[in-house]
Amino acid sequence: MIVLHTLSEYRNLRRNFSSEEQTVGFVPTMGALHEGHLSLVEQSKRENDRTVVSIFVNPLQFNNAEDYEKYPLTLKKDIQLLESVGCDILFAPSKDAMYPRPVELQMEFGAITSAMEGASRPGHFSGVGVVVSKLFNIIQPTRAYFGQKDIQQLCVIRQLVEDLNFPIQIVSCPIARNEKGLALSSRNQRLSPEGLELASQLYRTLIITAEQSTLTTPQQAISVGLQYLKNYPDIRLDYLEIVDTIQLKSLSSFTVREPFVICIAAYVEGVRLIDNLIIQA
Ligand code: PAF
Repeated sequence: MIVLHTLSEYRNLRRNFSSEEQTVGFVPTMGALHEGHLSLVEQSKRENDRTVVSIFVNPLQFNNAEDYEKYPLTLKKDIQLLESVGCDILFAPSKDAMYPRPVELQMEFGAITSAMEGASRPGHFSGVGVVVSKLFNIIQPTRAYFGQKDIQQLCVIRQLVEDLNFPIQIVSCPIARNEKGLALSSRNQRLSPEGLELASQLYRTLIITAEQSTLTTPQQAISVGLQYLKNYPDIRLDYLEIVDTIQLKSLSSFTVREPFVICIAAYVEGVRLIDNLIIQA
């Protein structure tokens, strides 16, 4: 695997791929890699001639300084994991390489960011939009792979690609879970064994809420989910929402024959975790 740290190094290499008309699959990450990331890399490898992974903990998308400072940095281990799945190129720029001067650019995504992560983390999606646009311009991938766990981010990226005409296919990949159903996340590394056990209740809450969806209204289904969570007072809930899968608007009834998604965000041992479950109507 080739490891590059500067934009010019990557651009020199990218020129060769263009001349050989090779397709490039791209998996943007913030490192602290887990099986979920590796499954994106494996999918990209199956679908492209070359696979590039980026590791960059993007300060612009953290609205909480402590969250940024505590974000796990595990570059050495990440390199080993990427080598084990045959990643071709790792692009791991420094903060100065990505942001040689303070960024003034702000991005607004409108209605799709008005609730959930957009509401709870002001400025987060602007920071994601800026860094992903920069990475797309640098990497120039044919396809880019994103996990469905960050479903609102996925909708933002799709909107970004459409609005700015990036010639890139966005591929959404299923959520990887551990044996207890907990969605794999870099943030799980900050949890104790008890915290990990407790965090699996987020998935259980999604399942219990989903079980109500054939019987009741979204509001009633959410109430059942909230009631279940009361058994776990150490989980600090941010939101439990049922929304459509395109605009992420709150669902008022289950009568429409459209898929919907149940989304949850909560703090366990002070670590913010998100998860969701898409229900095909
Ligand atoms: O999903 C992530 O890890 C990040 O938001 C991304 C897409 C790498 C941008 O920093």
